[in-house]
Amino acid sequence: MPIALITGATSGFGRATAYRFAEAGWSLILTGRRSERLAELETELGDKVEVLTLTLDVRDAEAVKAAIDGLDDAWRRITCLVNNAGLALALEPAQRVDLNDWHTMIDTNITGLVNVTHAALPLLIDTGKGASIVNIGSVAGSYPYPGSHVYGATKAFVQQFSYNLRCDLKGSGVRVTDVAPGLAETEFMLVRSKGDEQASKQLYAGANPLQAEDIAAQVFYVATLPEHININRLEIMPTSQSWSPFSIERE
Ligand SMILES: NC(=O)c1ccc[n+]([C@@H]2O[C@H](COP(=O)([O-])OP(=O)(O)OC[C@H]3O[C@@H](n4cnc5c(N)ncnc54)[C@H](OP(=O)(O)O)[C@@H]3O)[C@@H](O)[C@H]2O)c1
Repeated sequence: MPIALITGATSGFGRATAYRFAEAGWSLILTGRRSERLAELETELGDKVEVLTLTLDVRDAEAVKAAIDGLDDAWRRITCLVNNAGLALALEPAQRVDLNDWHTMIDTNITGLVNVTHAALPLLIDTGKGASIVNIGSVAGSYPYPGSHVYGATKAFVQQFSYNLRCDLKGSGVRVTDVAPGLAETEFMLVRSKGDEQASKQLYAGANPLQAEDIAAQVFYVATLPEHININRLEIMPTSQSWSPFSIERE
């Protein structure tokens, strides 16, 4: 069975993506920092498919490399890497943000993503045709909005890194896609608001947002297309979400 390596599998898109791939019988390498959630996933999915869990902070380059280099032969033929682990922090405007929040987003969404990609690339290249890297970007990488500051900028990195990877991977058979969701109901807002459940509920209330399963279906779709097809970028919003006019400050 093909193998998917999913980062940030303990919640939201990553968790739903693990379920979607398991439905199709894929073997799963599931990672995240919360070991107890990984253990739950192993219990829930382990009857149906092969599951390997790795407690891993993607920011820790050495730990990431050691975990991936240390995979047994049976787990090395990775067909799909889903670079999903990520977060937004700080709802304040740039001029009031705690600098640590900016660093955490850069360390996770950029450094973490490149750590995992760098460690997994040789394995994906060995798999060759049909392999894919699915990077979870965001509409925030393309469209500015107040309070997006470093978060949106990290997702712009994800988009450009995905495109640039495609150039270098030419001829390897490995595909790269930037999946860029809009408003989706996960633990994302709970993390962004630092545990404010009310803020999280308010954001999604009445908006009929995307659900984690909607994104999981798209990730599975791009990873299982015929091997000669590469979706470069897939941008998905709930129907309720669209753009606003430019904001103009008047005297
Ligand atoms: N929800 C949205 O509206 C939305 C829209 C566009 C893009 N996205 C992106 O989608 C991705 C998934 O977010 P989500 O909405 O599913 O949020 P979520 O429910 O909060 O899930 C985030 C996942 O990332 C993992 N993670 C965070 N920091 C990590 C670290 N340092 N090392 C390892 N794993 C880490 C978390 O696991 P642990 O805490 O167990 O480590 C968790 O499994 C993120 O990249 C996010 O930026 C979300």
